[in-house]
Amino acid sequence: MFSRFKKPETGPASTGLKPVTSSGPVAPTAAAPKPISISSRPVPAAPPPKTAAEAMASDKEKKRKDKIMELKVELHKRLLDNLNLSALEKASEASLKLEIASITAEALDEMSVALNAQDRQILHQELYDEVMGLGPLEALLKDETVNDILVNGPKRIFVERGGKLSLTDITFKDERHLLRIIDKIVSAVGRRVDESNPYCDARLADGSRFNCMVPPVAVDGSLVSIRKFKKDKLGIPDLVRFGAFTEEMAAYLQAAVATRLNVIVSGGTGSGKTTTLNALSSFIANDERILTIEDTAELQLQQVHVGRMESRPPNVEGKGAVTQRDCLRNALRMRPDRIIVGETRGEEVIDMLQAMNTGHDGSMTTIHANSARDGISRLENMIAMSGIEMPTKAMRSQISSAVNLIVQASRLQDGSRRMVSITEITGMEGEVISMQEIFRYERLGTESNGKIIGRFNATGIRSAYSDRFRQWGYDLPASIYEPIA
Ligand SMILES: Nc1ncnc2c1ncn2[C@@H]1O[C@H](COP(=O)(O)OP(=O)(O)OP(=O)(O)O)[C@@H](O)[C@H]1O
Ligand SMILES: [Mg+2]
Repeated sequence: MFSRFKKPETGPASTGLKPVTSSGPVAPTAAAPKPISISSRPVPAAPPPKTAAEAMASDKEKKRKDKIMELKVELHKRLLDNLNLSALEKASEASLKLEIASITAEALDEMSVALNAQDRQILHQELYDEVMGLGPLEALLKDETVNDILVNGPKRIFVERGGKLSLTDITFKDERHLLRIIDKIVSAVGRRVDESNPYCDARLADGSRFNCMVPPVAVDGSLVSIRKFKKDKLGIPDLVRFGAFTEEMAAYLQAAVATRLNVIVSGGTGSGKTTTLNALSSFIANDERILTIEDTAELQLQQVHVGRMESRPPNVEGKGAVTQRDCLRNALRMRPDRIIVGETRGEEVIDMLQAMNTGHDGSMTTIHANSARDGISRLENMIAMSGIEMPTKAMRSQISSAVNLIVQASRLQDGSRRMVSITEITGMEGEVISMQEIFRYERLGTESNGKIIGRFNATGIRSAYSDRFRQWGYDLPASIYEPIA
């Protein structure tokens, strides 16, 4: 067996096997008696079996699954022991799958195990994922309905679908198995995680955002979070269709972006900030030069003239970091019409506000905050933390002249993501920044299944930028500002 990809007989077991190596601190050991519990489907919220026949059937199904898991552990061990993994890197998917099929057939014969065609198919795919992909995570990465994958130690993998988190029945065999997959991901981007360097941000080959933290800092086993990359980002029409905001609000936002107001999208974790920012960017004209700066490149702008930058963490020796602030300062010398910063979270705030104040109107960013007012406090805190000493009033006046609009995104308890408020910054009153809310989401109640009932409404206040909108050719009807009684 392993005709084409078999390891040379004489070579040491772990030489040159970087991607799925059995060397290093996170390698699996040969002594692996327990099954790798990997299956490709999340746990359905199944009610307990009602009849004896159903109970028997589910028992049988469980035994079948257990048997496949045991087989997989054994076969995976054989694969890792025998395959020449450096040769595999050049092998095509089809030829490797053929090889795995023949190895499996041979091993099953040896073990005198019979499997039906469907089980064989599953086994082949899962073995392929183990050798070439990210093991148990592979099926979830391929599942289009999954937005986030959250791993809390080897035995608990959660997924987020439609704003709701659920536990899957997919598990890693043990912490070593999980660590091996983590190592595979981070070594592919030239990073390393271990006791002295226990966390890491990375981008997966498909663009998904990845973060991990390993023991002992992660107490109950490694923690992994993956924000899946969506090839087709949600656009304005999708967001309107999903009830994230109304057509009237979209028309207002179009006027705001097209007339180059500086916009901040504020929201909590996973509330849809990046998605909203990306959708808003579609209102930018095609002839403008846009520069984007992100920690992990997620934005997908449709315009022709886009320059994308991604910050870089320091290397193992603590050198070579390129921060968002570095990128932003450099971007200012690159003749941008607009600057988009994926998320402002630190010292770059100063440069962002300055850019917004000095001729780069129409710039946009997101911040982590729970309301427009809270967003302003976050900006103030970030300025204070960046070490710049500025009187509060000066700080606020800088913010109020830089930022025109705060769009608040929120993930409600029922999992739906909505733009709960659109607020304009109108200036200063004494030491306080004055604001006016133009649109808001009103909660009216909750259905018995937990779904939130609500509606978007105008506050009755006309935009302070109405004249500007009109001068630029965006003559919004006065009716969009009228509240529903
Ligand atoms: N209105 C919406 N309806 C349905 N799904 C949405 C909506 N907005 C965002 N999503 C999905 O929710 C997930 C999180 O969105 P997004 O990455 O924009 O959030 P975020 O606030 O930027 O998160 P983070 O704080 O982690 O950066 C994505 O998978 C996205 O496709
Ligand atoms: Mg984001």
